[in-house]
Amino acid sequence: MKTLVAYYSETDNTRRLAEAIYESINAAEKDIVPIGEAVPDPYDIIFVGFPVKANSVPGKVEKFIKSIPEGRKLAFFLTHGSMRGGQLAVTALHHAMGLAARQTILGSFGCRGQVRADVIDSLLQKPEHRAWAMEAQSADGHPDGADLEDGREFADAMIAKSRNM
Ligand SMILES: Cc1cc2nc3c(=O)[nH]c(=O)nc-3n(C[C@H](O)[C@H](O)[C@H](O)COP(=O)(O)O)c2cc1C
Repeated sequence: MKTLVAYYSETDNTRRLAEAIYESINAAEKDIVPIGEAVPDPYDIIFVGFPVKANSVPGKVEKFIKSIPEGRKLAFFLTHGSMRGGQLAVTALHHAMGLAARQTILGSFGCRGQVRADVIDSLLQKPEHRAWAMEAQSADGHPDGADLEDGREFADAMIAKSRNM
């Protein structure tokens, strides 16, 4: 099974999670490539990683998901400033899954990712965004060692699941 880890990352949070996932994948052939350079065609299993941006999926990532040929196995991973399991991250994940209707989705994993200080500072000034900015501040230091370990376990579970299908 040829496996690809394709990720998009602006401040390295998702890249670090992608690398942890990649290390953990026990497969004869595996590659890790940033979205923008990644070509999905040769792969049976594709891990697609992205940061939640404005409640959704970054445009480049949407385009990449839409380019994946029918019938491939996908696993999504994401980082986000809001709490684990929070509504914004779930909404973004559902959007990503909706773009992959012709593929098999093995599963998904999300963890928090530290938010750029200038973004937090500017949102703290805006009353309508202040509550979110305060919540997002507590993502400082993430992904941490425990998040990356959870990411490795996720990778192992996805590969095991793909073998049993
Ligand atoms: C412009 C911008 C918009 C963001 N919007 C959201 C959002 O809607 N929900 C959320 O949970 N996190 C949001 N975040 C936080 C990022 O998802 C988080 O910091 C992520 O870990 C960044 O990943 P990266 O370092 O791989 O780019 C936003 C960050 C930026 C810079």
